[in-house]
Amino acid sequence: MTSHNQEQPVVFSATAPSNIALVKYWGKRNIQLQWPANDSISMTLSSSNTTTTACRTENNFDRFTMANKTITSLTNPDDKVFRHLNFIRSQLNLAGHLDLTTQNNFPTGCGIASSASGFAALTLAATAALVGNPSWDALEMAGVTRQTLAHWARQGSGSAGRSVFGGFVQWTAGDHPEAQTITEELAPDHWNLSDVIVVLSDAQKHVSSSEAHLAAWASPLFKPRLAGLPDRLATVKKALNERDLATLGREIEVDALEMHAVAMTGSPAVHYLTPDTLNFISWVRTERRAGHLPAWFTIDAGPNVHLICRAEDAKIVATHVEKNWPQSRLIQDQIGRGPQITIVGPDKNREPLRFSIPELLENNNHA
Ligand code: PMV
Repeated sequence: MTSHNQEQPVVFSATAPSNIALVKYWGKRNIQLQWPANDSISMTLSSSNTTTTACRTENNFDRFTMANKTITSLTNPDDKVFRHLNFIRSQLNLAGHLDLTTQNNFPTGCGIASSASGFAALTLAATAALVGNPSWDALEMAGVTRQTLAHWARQGSGSAGRSVFGGFVQWTAGDHPEAQTITEELAPDHWNLSDVIVVLSDAQKHVSSSEAHLAAWASPLFKPRLAGLPDRLATVKKALNERDLATLGREIEVDALEMHAVAMTGSPAVHYLTPDTLNFISWVRTERRAGHLPAWFTIDAGPNVHLICRAEDAKIVATHVEKNWPQSRLIQDQIGRGPQITIVGPDKNREPLRFSIPELLENNNHA
């Protein structure tokens, strides 16, 4: 192993995709332990990504830059990014501060799951930089499996755990907080589905999903939703297995509308759907019935609509939306393989290890 040059720290980069939930996670059983009220299943996307770079610094504080704005753990100690870094360091039992930069290649905070890709990328880049290795195998040998990384990511934002895997991913709540699992249910090659994301508004949402999760319990519709979800999850998984888009489509539309109905009837009530959203989804159903639009919608915590369709129909779907909704902006995405961690910058050919694996294993007996 080459010795580490303190003057020029290695820069680690993680690119993590967003994911779109087909059965939504909505509501928490335990806030601190990030224990969801229900099992959820999502499709990891391919092009809508967050890229985060991390490198060790000699400073005694962390620094985070996003969209030309820099904050530090000295000026903003309670920021969720720095709380998450502290959590990762405590899990790894490793010290050391980091310089981080991050960038999304899609609009943030408007229902395209930027917190999912964001916390997945942050978790992976920070872990690689602290451990000193970007290789999944090396991390696994050190006891930091993909499952472990997914659980760390979900502490930042629940849905982020699912972005650590590719394909169709299930987050299972289990019967106690520690029994939660996050697993790739079906590989990306199983079914090439597209997500044509229709951005009707890129205004930032007024209520974060973290706040809205808490409001769900007051909705009279929440308990009936929870009671029906095991059946829906089974139907969705069967439809995915059998590549049955009509059944999948019917279930994801009901699931999204049910989640929004819970949000709108909770306390405080949360409205993410706008008149444009409602007009748009009603148009989708009319056009589908008329045989012009082979796509089914789902909507996360924002006003924008995801149209799920077969990859071979994505062009028809996009063209039809563009023609009829010229004021919208489209992001064409599809099922993806999950995140990547690399070394970037002038040091990229240098031996990345700073800690030997046995040394890390000794430190890291609880990861
Ligand atoms: O991960 P959070 O706390 O931002 O919640 C995600 C909520 C939804 O995106 C609406 C649903 C989901 O399962 O991703």
